[in-house]
Amino acid sequence: MGTVAIVGAGPGLGLSLAKVFGGQGFEVALIARTASTLDELVDDLADSGIAAAGYRADIMDRPSLVRAFRDIAANHEPVEVLEFSPAPRGPEAGMVLAGPLDVSVANVQPHLDFYVHGAITATGQVLPDMLERGSGTLLYTTGPGSVLPAPAMGNVGLACAALRNWVLNLHDALAGKGVYAAHVPLSLDADEADPDRIAPHYWDIHVSGEGGEHPLTASVLRGKRR
Ligand SMILES: NC(=O)c1ccc[n+]([C@@H]2O[C@H](COP(=O)([O-])OP(=O)(O)OC[C@H]3O[C@@H](n4cnc5c(N)ncnc54)[C@H](OP(=O)(O)O)[C@@H]3O)[C@@H](O)[C@H]2O)c1
Repeated sequence: MGTVAIVGAGPGLGLSLAKVFGGQGFEVALIARTASTLDELVDDLADSGIAAAGYRADIMDRPSLVRAFRDIAANHEPVEVLEFSPAPRGPEAGMVLAGPLDVSVANVQPHLDFYVHGAITATGQVLPDMLERGSGTLLYTTGPGSVLPAPAMGNVGLACAALRNWVLNLHDALAGKGVYAAHVPLSLDADEADPDRIAPHYWDIHVSGEGGEHPLTASVLRGKRR
């Protein structure tokens, strides 16, 4: 069945996605920076009977991300699904929020490095093989600001909108090649953002293989409650 590689795998959405895709028979490769968290996720998945392995990489350190994918290729079935949903854990160096009047090259660059260059780098590690095989799914998660301008997130939104733009073009460019790319903007209030309810929709999106964008809102979750 192949491997699902989750870039930015933590105890929220990453773990829930791993459970869904692992439960369907995929090998699971988790990428994040913190070894102890990865170990906990792998143990948690093992308790559910899912074979997973963690790979340490920092999206901001692109050679480390490339190395992680090299190791995944050596240890697993080919990556059939790439899912990109890293989330900074609170304020991190350089990853500040800026409104439109305060946007600067300096405060946009880290977000471009994180979302755009990170996604491009991860994709570059798996897309050539997917094209050669004529199969694969590429899913990229952002928040609502990638689609609708949110002034408080002027700089992050700019980077996420750029990622969305690339993914929509990628979707079109991959038509007829057996590889499917889609953008998944999550737009949920905190009380609705249960990753265990969100993750099954990614499976549906992967299986459908249709549509360049799948916004997940409260009404979508309610309408397709499992
Ligand atoms: N309200 C909503 O609409 C909603 C709800 C849920 C999720 N989301 C979105 O869904 C995505 C996932 O959120 P989540 O918090 O649930 O995910 P998660 O899978 O629990 O965590 C994501 C992981 O990304 C990793 N990460 C952060 N920076 C990284 C870096 N530089 N390199 C590699 N890995 C990195 C972190 O692990 P390390 O620190 O160990 O690297 C973190 O644990 C986010 O885009 C979030 O905004 C939105």
